[in-house]
Amino acid sequence: MTIRWAEIHPEDCTLDVENLESKLSSKTKLVAVGYASNAVGTINPVKEIIRIAHAAGALAYVDAVHYAPHGLIDVADLDCDFLVCSTYKFFGPHMGILYGKREHLQRLRPYKVRPLVDTVPFRWEWGTLNHECIAGITECVNYIADMGRGQVATSPHPPNENRVGWGTPRRDNSRRAAIVSAFDQIRRYELRLMRRSIEDLKEISKLKLYGITDPECFDWRCPTLALRVENQSAEETPLALATKLGERGFFAWDGNYYALNLTERLDVEKSGGFLRIGLVHYNTAEEVDRLLEALEEIVRG
Ligand SMILES: Cc1ncc(COP(=O)(O)O)c(C=O)c1O
Repeated sequence: MTIRWAEIHPEDCTLDVENLESKLSSKTKLVAVGYASNAVGTINPVKEIIRIAHAAGALAYVDAVHYAPHGLIDVADLDCDFLVCSTYKFFGPHMGILYGKREHLQRLRPYKVRPLVDTVPFRWEWGTLNHECIAGITECVNYIADMGRGQVATSPHPPNENRVGWGTPRRDNSRRAAIVSAFDQIRRYELRLMRRSIEDLKEISKLKLYGITDPECFDWRCPTLALRVENQSAEETPLALATKLGERGFFAWDGNYYALNLTERLDVEKSGGFLRIGLVHYNTAEEVDRLLEALEEIVRG
């Protein structure tokens, strides 16, 4: 088996789709793609990539772990063959999710014990199910739906139509419509937070922000911000910055967050990777302002 990797455009950390296409042939069995980068926040054009994979006769597999808290996932619209996700990323308990087209789940043979029934989905779900997590997942989906129905205060702040969860209730009362509405609100809210934080980060002269920085292209980005101090000293490594932020009450991770191929490709792995700031729908503009003030103070020394 040969695994081929697609290139990125290093200047904005977007996927080089032409390069990906050039790596496919009639021998390609599977194209695996991340929906969004957990390091630099780039959202990949997965629908296009799935179409390209299918045109080459390959199956398409999507890792939607990082995209899930930020945007609506519609497997039917994407037409992916498989999609995986982890529910803790969209505010649920620790449990993995696999979506597969029924034809594949029927055709492929799971490694299973003989007494287990051989029908879908049970042939893929061995032994006693994790009922408490499944109950938790149901409630986290309901939480998202409640946001879409305007029934969740996502922060202690007073009602404000600009905040997620205070929207006008929809006419279509289905849970699906509520989830679509929630992600529409989440996306718009996060875009505003992202615009504000990226504009302000650009003002901190020593910092370099990785990934898409052009506001015209923010539709292809989620608010996951990877940063470094340019020409960093020993006191300015991503670990040092994360530690100092932690001392001030901000939790930010440093390193590669398992996105090792990217940190190696950008040649930042040996010097500590990135400082990552991850924003979601319950963060406020005021929190972003405080964080950036702290960061500016830290890098100014
Ligand atoms: C894009 C992406 N894929 C996969 C994973 C791993 O998921 P899990 O923690 O459920 O193994 C992560 C975790 O951060 C992730 O961000």
